[in-house]
Amino acid sequence: MHAILFVGDVVGSAGRRVAQAMLGPMRDELDADFVVVNGENASGGIGINPKHADELFRAGADVITLGNHTYRHREIWPYLEQRREIVRPANFLPTQPGRGTATVERGGVTLGVVNLAGNLYMPQAAPALLTADDALKEVAHADLVLVDMHAEATSEKVALGWYLDGKVAAVVGTHTHVPTADARVLPGGTAYITDVGMTGARGGVIGVRREQSISTMRTHMPQRYEPSEEDPWINAVLVRCSDQGRATAIEQILRPLA
Ligand SMILES: [Fe+2]
Ligand SMILES: [Fe+2]
Repeated sequence: MHAILFVGDVVGSAGRRVAQAMLGPMRDELDADFVVVNGENASGGIGINPKHADELFRAGADVITLGNHTYRHREIWPYLEQRREIVRPANFLPTQPGRGTATVERGGVTLGVVNLAGNLYMPQAAPALLTADDALKEVAHADLVLVDMHAEATSEKVALGWYLDGKVAAVVGTHTHVPTADARVLPGGTAYITDVGMTGARGGVIGVRREQSISTMRTHMPQRYEPSEEDPWINAVLVRCSDQGRATAIEQILRPLA
């Protein structure tokens, strides 16, 4: 039996504080072999810089996945080429730095991680379901495979879950920052959830200070968005897997910063 802890989008300093405080103890408590963290909002709520990526690795992330905000901070561009344990969506263009898959090993077990981005309401990328075939070949040797599908549309995530059922241990959705209530193991043995949610301030609007978000929606005038600090939570899932690399259970973990 193996277990993977997957942590939804870490947003701003509140999210980083949660990661710092909770990843280590939760890894022990839940007996997780691997910790995978979506870090696309770690720095100032948009994107991630090398300092904060290093911080998430030190906090216990084995792999960091990203999404539509990958390239916000320029300093991360070369970092994505250098560091193999951080991935951006595999269906981004070849002109965009970084890799879409990673493999890590812990105690003799290997985990392959694939990051994909949806095609609806997202920057242009190759079709996610088509790229999934090639990306899976890159991690075919791994004992367990987890796919982070970073997408706005629920339909694309559900479709990918069915498409990969029986082929990978888990398909987890990210990006909307709101956890969905549909976590389950599909019949072929793939753990699935449409959105894991956000690790950050629940007192904001999907991570942004609520008064700023509300004001923009009321006035339709642009303004600076800052990450909220209020009421930090972790939103994650724990996927338990057999030695054959199939999921046996998926458990949603939603907890306030202890
Ligand atoms: Fe996000
Ligand atoms: Fe996103």
